[in-house]
Amino acid sequence: MPSNCSTEGETILPKTLLRVLSGETVVPPPIWLMRQAGRYLPEYRAIRVKTANFLEMVYTPDIAVEVTLQPLRRYGMDAAILFSDILVIPDALGQRVAFQQGEGPVLEPLRSVADIDRLSCDRLHEHLAPVYETVRRLAKAMDNKTALIGFAGAPWTVAVYMVEGRGGTDHTTIRRWAYRDPAGFGRLIELLIEATVAYLSHQIEAGAEVVQLFDTWAGVLSEQQFHQWCIAPTKAIVERLRRNYPAVPVIGFPRSAGALYADYFGNTGVSAIGLDTGVPLSWAAKVLQSHGAVQGNLDNQLLATGGEALDQAIDRLLATLGQGPFVFNLGHGIVPDTPPEHVARLVERVRTWKG
Ligand code: CP3
Repeated sequence: MPSNCSTEGETILPKTLLRVLSGETVVPPPIWLMRQAGRYLPEYRAIRVKTANFLEMVYTPDIAVEVTLQPLRRYGMDAAILFSDILVIPDALGQRVAFQQGEGPVLEPLRSVADIDRLSCDRLHEHLAPVYETVRRLAKAMDNKTALIGFAGAPWTVAVYMVEGRGGTDHTTIRRWAYRDPAGFGRLIELLIEATVAYLSHQIEAGAEVVQLFDTWAGVLSEQQFHQWCIAPTKAIVERLRRNYPAVPVIGFPRSAGALYADYFGNTGVSAIGLDTGVPLSWAAKVLQSHGAVQGNLDNQLLATGGEALDQAIDRLLATLGQGPFVFNLGHGIVPDTPPEHVARLVERVRTWKG
């Protein structure tokens, strides 16, 4: 545990994010933001326009390392999150993924068990080698205060893109398939569990100190489907990672899960939970924070708006969740038209909070 060792009688405290994820209350809380690297930063846009497409950025370690570090230079966040995307997994399994400018991801949709069976993990690590190289370089670049977060999409959310073929749908095709043929659809989820465990294990071996599972579309599931396609696969991934890497915390983010957040935290074994903007703070403090650390949930649109209302919301969040293990974050990723000064103001306000 290099972050926890003593030298010449001087104790180097572990990184604040790691302390909080192990259940400690830290004042002020650590802060990082989902999509902290991205189009709201002029230095990101300067690199983006020079690159043919988004996936090329992800698969070029020089670029991916640079854009991961950009928000740290500006704001000194308590964590870096690997610059990559949840859709590198379908890409690595053999389903073509394209990111079209202004349109988001487009995939050739899977519509049958035969389509699923054409995919395979055979070339997974070969395909993802540049991502592991990025993690290795980032791990070397971290100072002794900044934690490195790796991530993957949770199986359900990755399956949404694989079956629907794009974002922004009402998830009709995938939800009906899952009801009509749970065994057939379940093969896709099984494949994604395999791939995700393998992918996150390699990120950890390369130096990721924490991993986050993004289940962006968890909120569209009924209670029964939520247990089957969100909780059960997440639990399987957490158990398998924990067997090999017991010290590496896993943050789960079942966005828009509502009251099912409690079932998720109680049943998946995640170390901490990411709250979307809609989760009521006093409920989260009472029901969720008793299980472990919570992370979130400032409204990304309020961060884009700024002003007095932003300050008040930051203070409310700190007052309600800052008394327990808490990681300051947004309820969903930074939106591209967010003024970078608003992020600076947010970080400053959190850092000067006295508890
Ligand atoms: O800074 C970070 O948070 C790390 C990098 C990161 C990206 N995507 C980079 C990205 C992370 C953690 C993700 C996760 C991701 N990707 C999720 C889960 C979290 C969430 O936001 O719900 C999802 C659903 C995706 C899929 C995805 N990637 C979509 C739907 C889009 C298009 C929408 C958009 O914002 O453009 C992307 C593209 C994407 N991923 C960009 C970035 C910086 C923008 C690409 C560009 O610069 O053109």
